[in-house]
Amino acid sequence: MRSLLFVPGDSPKKLDKALQSGADALIIDLEDSVSAANKEDARKITRDFLNEHAGDEAPPRLFIRINDLETPYWESDVKLILKSSPAGLVLPKAHSGEDVHHLSVALDHLEARAGLESGSCKLIVLATERPMALLQMASFVGSSARLIGMTWGAEDLSVALGARRNRGDDGNYTSPYRLARDLCLVTAAAAEVDAIDTVYTNFRDLDGLRRTVEEAARDGFSAKMAVHPSQIPVINEAFTPSRDELEQARAIVSAFEDAGNAGVVALDGEMLDRPHLLRSERILARARAAGLS
Ligand code: COA
Ligand code: MG
Repeated sequence: MRSLLFVPGDSPKKLDKALQSGADALIIDLEDSVSAANKEDARKITRDFLNEHAGDEAPPRLFIRINDLETPYWESDVKLILKSSPAGLVLPKAHSGEDVHHLSVALDHLEARAGLESGSCKLIVLATERPMALLQMASFVGSSARLIGMTWGAEDLSVALGARRNRGDDGNYTSPYRLARDLCLVTAAAAEVDAIDTVYTNFRDLDGLRRTVEEAARDGFSAKMAVHPSQIPVINEAFTPSRDELEQARAIVSAFEDAGNAGVVALDGEMLDRPHLLRSERILARARAAGLS
């Protein structure tokens, strides 16, 4: 997964449009983009959409962002949609790995009761929306075998911190939100799950989006969330290895093979050892996943 497009769960029109966006995954939202009055409608629209498209030939993976565990909504969200076999759930406003564990146990029971394969519903956690979560990031590591990704958000966090703004005059996030981003990246690596970069909300500014997504790919994120279909091509491109990157990775892997899988080799005057080989193998794996070869 390179791109995950948010779609409000109460909009059948946007749901249909999202299928054509080229996103690797959709995050159908039952939370902040759906008003309290529309929660029940959004659940039913989402369930019907899942039922209609779960069997599609090559659909984007369909994730559902449920409401957070402090609301009266989340249990109804999960009960109504789980039988329609979403790829997974996105848990917002987690306080710690304890919340991921709690949701996972609830899913164990519901899957058993619905006759679904145990553990089939995966989880992605929004790990930086609560200040307490930042203080307990390590608790997400090993919190559930269902956990496949971690992502971060600056909007709810900045409200919780009492901040007036979360960006400086240069448009970049200020240090509390850089900290949240970096902790998410490091924790996802420790947990061996996908690190997914947050949304770029100014959806008309594709140059700004390109800059942040290139920074994300450079630093180790493997995907980014989106709020608008126009953002998907930019995100997919940034997370797909370029031809130069691919050639370089192939040359490095060959250099090690030619040297009888030696620990260290020289290529074009550069010393290369194990981390270089691992990085190149990862680039080739990403290219295969993106349908390049
Ligand atoms: N998914 C699917 N379709 C979308 C979309 C999305 N996230 N965002 C926009 N579209 C559609 C619009 O419905 C419109 O369709 P049309 O041409 O058939 O009328 C088309 O793409 C162009 O949209 P545009 O006019 O540029 O934007 P908008 O003003 O209609 O929508 C937002 C702007 C922000 C309201 C919309 O992008 C959106 O709902 N984004 C997701 C919000 C969300 O889920 N937030 C929660 C997580 S941060
Ligand atoms: Mg939010």
